[in-house]
Amino acid sequence: MRLDGKVAAVTGGGSGIGEATCVRLAEEGARVAVLDIDEGAAALTAKLAGEGVAIVCDVTDSGAVDAALERLEAELGPVDIWVNNAGIAGGEASDNTNPRAEAQLAELAESGAIRTPLEGLVRMSDEDWRRMLSVHLDGTFYGTRAAARSMAARETGRSSTSPRSAGSRAAPATRTTRRRRAGSSPSPAPWRRS
Ligand SMILES: NC(=O)c1ccc[n+]([C@@H]2O[C@H](COP(=O)([O-])OP(=O)(O)OC[C@H]3O[C@@H](n4cnc5c(N)ncnc54)[C@H](O)[C@@H]3O)[C@@H](O)[C@H]2O)c1
Repeated sequence: MRLDGKVAAVTGGGSGIGEATCVRLAEEGARVAVLDIDEGAAALTAKLAGEGVAIVCDVTDSGAVDAALERLEAELGPVDIWVNNAGIAGGEASDNTNPRAEAQLAELAESGAIRTPLEGLVRMSDEDWRRMLSVHLDGTFYGTRAAARSMAARETGRSSTSPRSAGSRAAPATRTTRRRRAGSSPSPAPWRRS
């Protein structure tokens, strides 16, 4: 797979899977726009991705997503690949749940039996739930729509989406596990007309 001359945008490109995706896209020859709510993380990934550009963007804000697309296209050219990757694990609920997941891992290693309940569901507040939905659903819609508006006019391009809910997270998202998982990348889902 060579992507010479292609322009790619990755939301949540500042860390984990998004960071690995940016680096891989750059290795394949694409110029990469790293969109992330975390300015420092986006800048770091952009450096790793060679000619990459870092853009601060909250994907729950459609205006910010549209503006990010406009800026990246002004700096890099028309977008060919859009990756919806920005995601969160569930706000305060994760802070409550992750130590319990750590305890579960320790119990598993020690005796092979889990005694600590995760209780991720009962510990999640309305606010955290709404924020998670907005990052994953609104963010994916706003990103795909913005990219499609540009791509459809040129009848070319691809978008791919990787979010999932915190409910299926089996282990805490520590920096270490994020780095370990960074080897995997989202499978592409072409949207364009054939
Ligand atoms: N880690 C897994 O096992 C796994 C499995 C399947 C899917 N996913 C999904 O893949 C994506 C990346 O997972 P990860 O483990 O690399 O996560 P991560 O926490 O390492 O990275 C997520 C990135 O998204 C950014 N982000 C968060 N909210 C944002 C917002 N509103 N706007 C823009 N950027 C925002 C964060 O700053 C961070 O850089 C997530 O959507 C996650 O739900 C993860």
